[in-house]
Amino acid sequence: MAQSPVMDKLVSLCKRRGFVFQSSEIYGGLGSVWDYGPLGVELKRNVKDRWWHAMVRAREDIEGLDAAILMHPKVWEASGHVAGFSDPLVDCKTCKARFRADQIADAACPQKPSKHPGEHSTCSLTEPRMFNLMFKTVMGPVEESGSVVYLRPETAQGIYVNYLNVLQSSRQRIPFGIAQIGKAFRNEITPGNFIFRTREFEQMEMQFFVKPGDDAEWFERWRGLRMAWHQELGLNPDKLRWHPHVESELAHYARAAYDIEYEFPFGWSEIEGIHNRGDFDLTNHQTVSGKKLEYFDQASNTRYLPNVVETSAGADRIALTLLVDAFREEQVEGETRTVLGFHPSIAPIKAAVLPLVNKDAMPEMATGLFNDIRKKFACFYDDGGAIGRRYRRMDEVGTPFCVTVDGQTADDRTVTVRHRDSMAQDRIGIDAVAAYLSERLT
Ligand code: GAP
Repeated sequence: MAQSPVMDKLVSLCKRRGFVFQSSEIYGGLGSVWDYGPLGVELKRNVKDRWWHAMVRAREDIEGLDAAILMHPKVWEASGHVAGFSDPLVDCKTCKARFRADQIADAACPQKPSKHPGEHSTCSLTEPRMFNLMFKTVMGPVEESGSVVYLRPETAQGIYVNYLNVLQSSRQRIPFGIAQIGKAFRNEITPGNFIFRTREFEQMEMQFFVKPGDDAEWFERWRGLRMAWHQELGLNPDKLRWHPHVESELAHYARAAYDIEYEFPFGWSEIEGIHNRGDFDLTNHQTVSGKKLEYFDQASNTRYLPNVVETSAGADRIALTLLVDAFREEQVEGETRTVLGFHPSIAPIKAAVLPLVNKDAMPEMATGLFNDIRKKFACFYDDGGAIGRRYRRMDEVGTPFCVTVDGQTADDRTVTVRHRDSMAQDRIGIDAVAAYLSERLT
């Protein structure tokens, strides 16, 4: 289906201003793989930093981890991914396109986009067959005799196999959690919607280990905390909702699951999943590895396999959510002003420093100010073009503040601070700029 006009504008802005580029573009691109440019990498880093802060640094009961992407192949047998991480696939023998059998109703026939696959007179669809989404590679110097390993399709398994290592080295007690951010790979049949569904992406996952029987209560607690986190990013609360999974939607590992969904221009779609995984993963890893993974509870002098409540978010999806939520166009003095109205904590550039003109000591004063505040915030110096155009360039990438050194600065050491959303300007002392921004950015 064709992309919405808002998505078209956003994709074009992202390329033009250095947020997101298509991977290997000079070779024609690689399907549904994307690279983050200078502003995109800052945006995604801000998302990850906020998540890491909320989940690890601000809590005493969660430890961080950075497990390897490549894992022992038996991990994926134990996790159920070798047997069950598959989507039903149909091919069209005429146009050679591939579709998910369960999403035909949402797909467009490449030969006649107003129709669904199978509806055009020349369509010739195969019977559905199961297609495993894991990427395979070979470990070892000789391909034929090397062993097959997988690029992990989720980061969670790195947490399960390290659960005892973390427990023992950190001296945590149940209930406690392990969090990690890292790349995951899925050979999606129908990727799309820009960076929403890609074949290489980053997950921010946390597994919270609890006593059996306490899982339902912790599941509810984590649901509340995770929705609050999204709202604190400044996302429009009317565009966030819960989607509870009915029995037929539940993943193979889940006792209960809720998605947090956002209303994108292409419809309500999942940005994070909260799952009650019970003891599914630890039981399977204990069985397949033959290693005891039980927890000894000193208080009750009992041993048990903990239950797990998982929170699983995609950093790229949340970056897209922030871009969509922030994007607006408005008419100002007969011109269209494009704004990314990011929450200041998410904005890739926090403040721009602009000399009004390149003379009368303004560049020297502006450079001095820039060198001072860049020690604390991500800042940008721009001395090219009319001041109005420079403001617009900063609006378009979501910079909350523009600080301008003008003719008055040399006389009374004051500058103007322009606010992105209201476009109102305050006049403050040049020595007060760092404190002024700190107050509004932190
Ligand atoms: N460990 C559980 C798990 O991986 P999931 O619902 O398959 O659950 C969790 O994925 C999150 O990862 C999703 O909510 C989404 O934000 C992100 N995600 C999953 N597949 C993705 C893809 N192909 N591209 C981008 N993000 C993806």
